[in-house]
Amino acid sequence: MTDESAQDPGAPMHDDEFLTLREGEIAAALPAQFDASLYFIGRIRTPWQSREQCPKNPRESDAVCTVELDPRWAPALEGLETVTHVVLLYWMNRTRRDLVLQWPRHYGEQRGTFALRSPARPNPIAISVARLVRIEGSTLLVTGVDCLDNTPLLDIKPYFASTDSVPEAVVGWHARRGR
Ligand SMILES: C[S@@+](CC[C@H](N)C(=O)[O-])C[C@H]1O[C@@H](n2cnc3c(N)ncnc32)[C@H](O)[C@@H]1O
Repeated sequence: MTDESAQDPGAPMHDDEFLTLREGEIAAALPAQFDASLYFIGRIRTPWQSREQCPKNPRESDAVCTVELDPRWAPALEGLETVTHVVLLYWMNRTRRDLVLQWPRHYGEQRGTFALRSPARPNPIAISVARLVRIEGSTLLVTGVDCLDNTPLLDIKPYFASTDSVPEAVVGWHARRGR
């Protein structure tokens, strides 16, 4: 599975919905070459075709979505049927990768890319802890994702509440907004 815009940082930017630079946003020059390669192991099928439709975070929708795993990796699902929640890592293939300062519309303030959960980042990897509804062959039915239809899948891991959960964690700038 390939996605040309994801493979080549110099690929032409053609997706205005995600690629337009807003006032207050600053881009860096991307490195001349990549340091590693990766495999897309499947696709996430969701009901959302545009940014406006898409949830802003995995808890905003309880729509059942499907993770279509490349069948070659199906044996790697052995044991996953016992798991209630999975960590999904996926590749936000329609975003730009050069932003260092961003101006998210819903916050209306400038922030550094690494202080945000924006899809626009040097390696546009998104994460969500999704509820595993069931597994049918090489397809997983899940709730709790926030990506566009056909977003490439990078990895699936079991979520361990015992070690992955940090209930006292704080994002200061967000907490100060009183949300
Ligand atoms: C704010 S991000 C949060 C991502 C993820 N939950 C995380 O924190 O890693 C979610 C937004 O990314 C955008 N998005 C979803 N799928 C995308 C894709 N394939 N390429 C680029 N942007 C995408 C949509 O606007 C969606 O509302």
